[in-house]
Amino acid sequence: MPSFYLTTPIYYASGEPHLGHAYTTILGDVLARYRRRAGEDVLFLTGTDEHGQKIQEAAAEQGMTPTALCDLMAGRFQAAWRNLAISHDRFIRTTEDEHRAVVSALLERLRDNGLVYEGEYAGWYSVGQERYFTEKEIGPERVDPVAGGPVERIREKNYFFRMSQFQERLLRHVEANPDWIVPAARKNEVLGFLRRPLGDLSISRPRSRIHWGIPLPWDADQVTYVWVDALVNYVTASGAVSPEAPAGERGFDSPLASRWPADLHLIGKDILTNHAVYWPTLLMGAGLPLPRKILAHGWWVVEETKMSKSLGNVVDPLELRSSFGTDALRWYLMREMPTGQDASYTPDRFLVRYEELSNILGNLAHRVVSMVGRYRAGTTPGGPADGLRAETERAVDAYREGFERYRLHEGLAAAMELARRANGFVEEREPWLLARDPGRAAELDETLASLVRVLVTLACLFEPVAPGKALELAGRVGMERVPLLDEAVCMNVAGLAVSQGAPIFPRAGSPGGPPGGTDGEIAA
Ligand code: MSP
Repeated sequence: MPSFYLTTPIYYASGEPHLGHAYTTILGDVLARYRRRAGEDVLFLTGTDEHGQKIQEAAAEQGMTPTALCDLMAGRFQAAWRNLAISHDRFIRTTEDEHRAVVSALLERLRDNGLVYEGEYAGWYSVGQERYFTEKEIGPERVDPVAGGPVERIREKNYFFRMSQFQERLLRHVEANPDWIVPAARKNEVLGFLRRPLGDLSISRPRSRIHWGIPLPWDADQVTYVWVDALVNYVTASGAVSPEAPAGERGFDSPLASRWPADLHLIGKDILTNHAVYWPTLLMGAGLPLPRKILAHGWWVVEETKMSKSLGNVVDPLELRSSFGTDALRWYLMREMPTGQDASYTPDRFLVRYEELSNILGNLAHRVVSMVGRYRAGTTPGGPADGLRAETERAVDAYREGFERYRLHEGLAAAMELARRANGFVEEREPWLLARDPGRAAELDETLASLVRVLVTLACLFEPVAPGKALELAGRVGMERVPLLDEAVCMNVAGLAVSQGAPIFPRAGSPGGPPGGTDGEIAA
């Protein structure tokens, strides 16, 4: 069975999950569900990033120990993901013993390979981004160029990783594999970065300043730089490295039977350098293969500014979910943002996307089920079901192409287009007129059966993005589960018993909807 290992960033356990985190995680979930439905053995990893200055300071501010804060926030993220129907296979926390041991083993390995030296770092540090910036990057205002937050001048002893040694090799890798980083604009950004001199990477901090981290195996007065610690999570969860094994047999150079390398790292564009430069050079230094692909998506912005906790403009995904339901939120996020580009969150656009679900897909389901009920006593007729065949094929091809090329918004648009076409087909065939003419019974049978077949196909197409509603839709046409796409397209729908219920997507503004909290809240 082909396998697929995909990851999201691990989110800082210093703040609540927000719409940006939800976006990446839902994107991962939609891809994971799509791949599982294609018969692949998927490992979908997410988790929380729990060490470093940011967590240490957030805990102190709230009068908590870092451990208590991380436990609380890891619980919040897990609850958020349950409420958003995330189907991750593993939730990693960087404070886990297993992970701490893998980080130590990897650092030792880099040191054994002669790639670590001691030095002094002088520079500008942003706690918000957990990274140094150059004088040029912070500009005359001396603010972090990503979120505009404060930076502090730091001079201290650090250990360094000889990242510069791998510059040429990485540059060649990016040039030789044009689809390694998608979209292309992000790849070009990395190429630009790699064509300038690449420095070495500071990989530790003095314990006197930051105590909350993984101590270096050879110098307990220094803790591992949080980004090095965090990136390694992807290897920890893969099982490629066994820290308990004797030094030569831990899996470096020849990874143990495992899920490594990852097939896909999903990230936001804010952490591109960390993933496309620091991470691959660290892997090269340790003798581990590189991930197969990095997809850097854009930002959700609110009035042109990135949504971020420090700017105080975050949208709470769970609040939106409680007004419109999980699947509507997932649909909005996936359909509205062209994968890879920025998009602006506005309540108006949310409503426009919700109305597609209710006025097009929901309406189609309602009409078809009630016509089969009214004209055929609730049982899908037999005989040919060839209406909309070409349209279905076109939609399925465009959907698959969108997903394979990581242009999910296009794949999903194709699915909605099929629902729109099916509504058009109802108008063209006018089943209410056919029903009045016994001589045209076969035509009516064919019309209804074709429409039921399209509904089954739509349940398949919508399952990755709207798993709950897709199952409901399949249920309305008498199926216990959502079939696989290939099964659906050529399925014999004769005899399926349809059942009418409350609208799947109640119209926004109607007395019964949209569905406030119908999904039920799962508390942290
Ligand atoms: N802990 C690091 C990641 C370590 S991965 C080894 C981190 N955490 S974070 O909590 O700040 O999450 C950053 C990620 O959240 C982004 O890369 C992106 O996936 C997501 N987003 C956060 N804000 C976002 C938007 N406004 N829009 C879209 N996604 C954003 O960085």
